[in-house]
Amino acid sequence: MALFEVRGLRKAFGPNKVLDGLDLDIYAGEVITIIGESGSGKSVLLKAMMGLIEVDGGTIRFDGDEVTGQSEQGWVATRQRIGMLFQESALFDSLNVYENVGYALREQTSMTEEEIATRVAETLSLVALPGIELMAPSDLSGGMRKRVALARAVAVRPEIVFYDEPAEGLDPINVTRVNRLLLGLQESLHVTSVVVTHNLKAAFTISDRLALIHDGQVAATGAPESFLETEDPVVREFIGDRMRKVLRAS
Ligand SMILES: Nc1ncnc2c1ncn2[C@@H]1O[C@H](COP(=O)(O)OP(=O)(O)O)[C@@H](O)[C@H]1O
Ligand SMILES: [Mg+2]
Repeated sequence: MALFEVRGLRKAFGPNKVLDGLDLDIYAGEVITIIGESGSGKSVLLKAMMGLIEVDGGTIRFDGDEVTGQSEQGWVATRQRIGMLFQESALFDSLNVYENVGYALREQTSMTEEEIATRVAETLSLVALPGIELMAPSDLSGGMRKRVALARAVAVRPEIVFYDEPAEGLDPINVTRVNRLLLGLQESLHVTSVVVTHNLKAAFTISDRLALIHDGQVAATGAPESFLETEDPVVREFIGDRMRKVLRAS
C-alpha cells in the first residue's frame, strides 16, 4: 500500500488548470523526486498534500485514510506526521537555534523540557551542527541556516518529509551537503522523502524514483535510469540531449 495515494487531483486558479487529473503513489521508505517545468504545479501538489490549499477535485489518501475534504483539525493532525522544508521556511530570527528546532516539540507534543533538550541535541547532530543551540540565526551562514531548518523539520520525527527546492539559493558545496544530509536522514530516521527540485543532477543522484509533471498530470514515473533510456517524447524533451549526456556520464 502506498503511504500517499493521489487520484485524479484537480486544481485550477481561474482559467489556469494547474493539476488536471493527477495520479501519484508515494511508497513508504522511498526518496521520490518530482520534476517538471517551472510553473508545472510541483509546489501546488505538495501544498495540496498538506492541506495548505484546497483542491477542486480528486482524492488524496494518507496512510490509508482519505484526507481530502477533512476538517482543519484533521489537517493539523496530518501535518504533524509530515516534516516540511520549503524554500520560504525561514528560521524565526528572534529565537535562537534551540528554540527554533524545539518549536514544534513544544507546540505539538507533551515532551518535557529535558526531553526536548535531548531531542534538539540529537537532531542538531544529525545535521552535523552539534552544540550550536545558543547561536542566533543571524550568526549562521546560509548553508547552516538551511541545515537548522532541516533539523527543525525533522525534530518531531515525521514519517514523511517534503522538500521543496531544498538547495535553492545555496552554493554548490552546500547543495551537495544538503543532499547528503537528506540521504543521511533517510537512513537514520527511516523516513519517506518527497523532493521537488529543478536540479536534475541532484534528482538523479538522490532518488529511488522520479515523477515528471507535465500538463497537470504525472506524465512518467520510474527509476532515474529509466528516464535516460525511455523513448517517451515528453521525458526526452524535458531532460534534453545535452543533460542526458551529462547524466549518462555521471
Ligand atoms: N495562490 C495562487 N494563486 C494563483 N495562482 C497560483 C497560486 N499558486 C500557484 N499558482 C500558479 O500555479 C502554477 C503552478 O505553480 P507552482 O506549483 O508553484 O509551480 P512549480 O512547479 O514551479 O512549483 C503557476 O502557474 C502558478 O502561477
Ligand atoms: Mg515550486
